Amino acid sequence: MKIWILHDSKYGNGKKLAEELGNTFPSNTEIKIGHINEISPEIIAQNLPDSLILGGAVRMFRGAPASKKWLKNLSNLLQISNKTISTGLIFLTHALATEKVQGYAKRFWKKMSRSPAILQTYPQWITARVNTSEGPFFEGEIDNALKIASEFHSWILVRNNHK
Ligand SMILES: Cc1cc2nc3c(=O)[nH]c(=O)nc-3n(C[C@H](O)[C@H](O)[C@H](O)COP(=O)(O)O)c2cc1C
Repeated sequence: MKIWILHDSKYGNGKKLAEELGNTFPSNTEIKIGHINEISPEIIAQNLPDSLILGGAVRMFRGAPASKKWLKNLSNLLQISNKTISTGLIFLTHALATEKVQGYAKRFWKKMSRSPAILQTYPQWITARVNTSEGPFFEGEIDNALKIASEFHSWILVRNNHK
C-alpha cells in the first residue's frame, strides 16, 4: 500500500505532524511526504497512491485555501485520466481553540469527500493546535492525531478485506 502525505507547512509544525503520521503505518506501507508547493497534483496523479493524507493550516481566518486548491487541481487531473485514489484523510493545524476551528475542518473535509477522485474520505478529521503561530503543538495534540491515523489505517484494512 502506498500513501502520500502532503502538507502546507510554513513553520514546520504541519511537516512534523506529517512525519509523525507517516511513522504510525507499518513498515510494509510505502510512505511519501511532501509540501504542496513542491509536490504538484501532476506528480500525485502520475504516482497514484492508494491513500492521500492532505494537510493544511488555518491562516487569516481561512481554512487551508492552498490545500483545497491543490486538491481541486488533483481532482481535475484524475477525472481527465479516469483514475481514482481509494481513501483519504485530512488534517488541519491551527492556533485558535480547537472548538473554534471545527467549521474550517469540516469545510476542508467536505472538499475531499465531494471529490470524485477520492473514493472514500475517512469520516473523522484531524485538527492539531499550536501554542503560537510558529508552534510548538500543545501537549497531547500529536497523540490525538496519531490515534486517528491508526484508526484510519484499520479502516483501510477493513475496506481492503471487503474488496
Ligand atoms: C499569517 C498567519 C495568519 C494566521 N491566522 C490564523 C487564524 O486565523 N486562525 C488560526 O487558528 N491560526 C492562525 N495562524 C496560525 C497557523 O495556523 C499556524 O501558524 C500553523 O498552523 C502552524 O503550522 P505550520 O508551522 O505548519 O505552518 C496564522 C498564522 C499565520 C502565519
